[in-house]
Amino acid sequence: MRDLLPEEAEALRFTEQTAREIARLYGYREVVTPIVENYELLAAKIGEENRKRMYVFEDLGGRKVALRPEFTASVARLVATKMQSTPKPLRLFSVGSLYRYDEPQFGRHREFWQANYEIFGSKRPEADVEILFLTNDFLGKIGLKNYTFKIGHVGILRGILDREKIAEEKQNSIMQLLDKKHWEDATRLVKEASASQECVEDLQSLFEIRGKNLENLVVEIGEIVKPYPEAFEALENLRAIIDLLLKGGADFEIVLEAGFARGLEYYTGLIFEVYVREMAQALGGGGRYDRLIELFGGGKTPAVGIAHGLDRLLLALQKQGNLPKVPVTKRVLVIPVRDEMLGEAFKVSSILRSAGICTEVEVAGRSVSRALSDADRKGFTYAVIIGSKEIAEGKVVLRDMERRIQEVIDVDELPARFKA
Ligand code: HAM
Repeated sequence: MRDLLPEEAEALRFTEQTAREIARLYGYREVVTPIVENYELLAAKIGEENRKRMYVFEDLGGRKVALRPEFTASVARLVATKMQSTPKPLRLFSVGSLYRYDEPQFGRHREFWQANYEIFGSKRPEADVEILFLTNDFLGKIGLKNYTFKIGHVGILRGILDREKIAEEKQNSIMQLLDKKHWEDATRLVKEASASQECVEDLQSLFEIRGKNLENLVVEIGEIVKPYPEAFEALENLRAIIDLLLKGGADFEIVLEAGFARGLEYYTGLIFEVYVREMAQALGGGGRYDRLIELFGGGKTPAVGIAHGLDRLLLALQKQGNLPKVPVTKRVLVIPVRDEMLGEAFKVSSILRSAGICTEVEVAGRSVSRALSDADRKGFTYAVIIGSKEIAEGKVVLRDMERRIQEVIDVDELPARFKA
């Protein structure tokens, strides 16, 4: 886990602010869930790989709890228990830190940040499409360039495995291997689960299918999955999503990969991840999960969502030479000429702050010239010098640090000067 120094923290909060603005624009309202939750809840569908990496401990009440490794389980719990009667569709946003005992490396940390968006109560393709458009808008707004969406559909793969009566546990292991692109190992597991030769071959053909020509690829997949009714139905859903994306004017790069799976086990439909050429890891990922709310005791509630890795996004922006520029604000240093003027210095600083101006008071007792050279070094835009003679007449010395000029002005005039 890392310490974030001021510039890093500012950059992170800047991405968070952008994520919040996107939530507002799309009508996603924020919910705040706890960082520590019941282990069983968090572990239920997180998938083998992530489950092993959870921070698990017993609290003083003897409960087995864990630090949240993602938002989805917590938000789904919230919807299942406290928002069942809230009208659907329901759009919820969360942002904050998550914890996974991953091997630390570039872009992978044990504490990281996500902006998470979930939409509950619609099984229609337009909900999936909204999440993709929202993602595109967020990435664009944050300044990311040349990103690619990788998409797939869990329903197609599970539809095939279901017809072969492969148990869910086994299917989950197969999905874990596909998530890691271990196609041969996945095929071996399918064979071990005594799937038919035909099914093994069909899956192998599917694993080969990837590309940008979405409509043609859907036809190709259709040829393979025709004998599997559930998989074919899932493909129809994928076709509808792609169709609506294109009709809705999607101008971002999308790569369809028929053998794409994600490690999280709750997905039932469309899945996707976002990549840039400059980095191997995904910047965001999500998909449709239509059965999680039921699993947590709620009614039938289809859902789809996405989580963006905020710190990872910053690394991608840095690699692209496009780190967000946190807007520079005017900063003022108020310097009393002598200690007796300190009280006045606090009064003047308070007037400035009431006008919304970032103001610091010289608190180290330095002489005016030393305080000024320090203000110069730290990039203050102005200094306000409080001398006894001026303040007795309701005036102060205002120094423009950049232009290196100063003038005597009325205290009352100060706020207006900075606004200008
Ligand atoms: P996820 O793919 O596990 O999905 O994580 C989403 C994003 O979080 C990743 O694409 C990555 O940017 C970031 N991330 C994950 N692990 C790390 C790490 N160790 N260090 C830095 N960044 C990391 C989910 O969490 C799902 N809950 C997404 C979702 C929402 N699905 C439906 N709704």
